[in-house]
Amino acid sequence: MNNEEALILIVDDIPRNLQVLGSILSGSGFGVSVASSGQSALDAVQETIPDVILLDIQMPDMDGFEVCERLKSNPTTADIPVIFLTARTEVDDIVRGFDVGAVDYITKPFISQELLARVRTHLRLVRQTKRLQDLNNDKNEFLGIAAHDLRNPLSKIQFIAEKMAYEAQTFTPELINDAAQDILHTVSGMMELISNLLDVNVIEQGKLVVELNPIEVGVIIEHIVRDYEARAAAKKITLQYDHDERLPLIQADEVAVAQIMDNLLSNAIKYSPTRTQVTIRLYTQEQFVRLDVQDQGLGMSDDDQKRLFQKFARLSAKPTGNEHSIGLGLSIVKTLVDKLQARISVESAIGKGTTFSVLFPVAQGTNHGTQS
Ligand SMILES: Nc1ncnc2c1ncn2[C@@H]1O[C@H](COP(=O)(O)OP(=O)(O)OP(=O)(O)O)[C@@H](O)[C@H]1O
Ligand SMILES: [Mg+2]
Repeated sequence: MNNEEALILIVDDIPRNLQVLGSILSGSGFGVSVASSGQSALDAVQETIPDVILLDIQMPDMDGFEVCERLKSNPTTADIPVIFLTARTEVDDIVRGFDVGAVDYITKPFISQELLARVRTHLRLVRQTKRLQDLNNDKNEFLGIAAHDLRNPLSKIQFIAEKMAYEAQTFTPELINDAAQDILHTVSGMMELISNLLDVNVIEQGKLVVELNPIEVGVIIEHIVRDYEARAAAKKITLQYDHDERLPLIQADEVAVAQIMDNLLSNAIKYSPTRTQVTIRLYTQEQFVRLDVQDQGLGMSDDDQKRLFQKFARLSAKPTGNEHSIGLGLSIVKTLVDKLQARISVESAIGKGTTFSVLFPVAQGTNHGTQS
């Protein structure tokens, strides 16, 4: 958010003050709304919640203290920072202002630099607090899911191990093999969950660094298609990979492109029934290389499509082969696509299937790459 996106409500019964403060703030790019009495200020915040309130203390009818108390006692307005406007001599007012919940005060006559500095400081504080709260919520939510989803597979492994220990004599090599396969499958789900957790944390701490270099996208895509062939075959899903003979280099990060493809292809297989086809297409489209991952799977409603890229979105389509679903894959894809200055879109119809398309920008000056 920058200045233009922040709304400052000024409350003062003296029109001249509203004018002076309003022009200083709007001159610096802030959005400004005004109220000339305590009651009209309370009405205004019901309509639109401002980011900061500048509140005069001395007003007829309802003074600033009372307005502030009312704002603080209402949960929807309690977090708006209130800065009091007061005369330089009114020390008692300042103390009482803090008591009723103000975060700061500005003395009249106003010095525009001071006014702007204080407003910016409190805006920054609320935004930082909001961001920390959001991160904390995400973390709690994720930990809840991680704890929940790790418990089931762990107890499954425990169950298998107990069985093997108690019935060791009767275990044939085939039964041991079955048990080992079961454990391997379970462990790979847990690994996926943990690596997703790391991914998310890395991204949120801003440590995710993508390096934009001219790269050969075809090599990466082909690798991942091959990686998934066995898993697709296990569900009798055929993978069809079509691509232009020659593709230009794209400006992107190899690891990020691999993560994007990995998530899209694993989803296509995960949300498709057996005996269907997943088609991967890679071709030039104007100044982009376009990747389509098309499945004949469960598809999704318009409503689902709106929530698709949100974190922990587990939508109507459920895995068709007992795979794990955490709801993080596509939120990671979206973050990476944005970092790469690429674009992603989806077309889907319930019961028919889904196509995800990513447009990767072609590297400058390499319109005719050498890739085969
Ligand atoms: N190709 C697809 N066809 C139908 N539904 C899909 C498809 N891809 C994603 N979805 C729906 O979108 C939801 C979110 O997908 P996302 O990849 O973010 O999470 P996930 O696959 O559930 O778990 P994971 O974090 O392991 O990727 C899925 O739970 C599924 O309901
Ligand atoms: Mg997924």
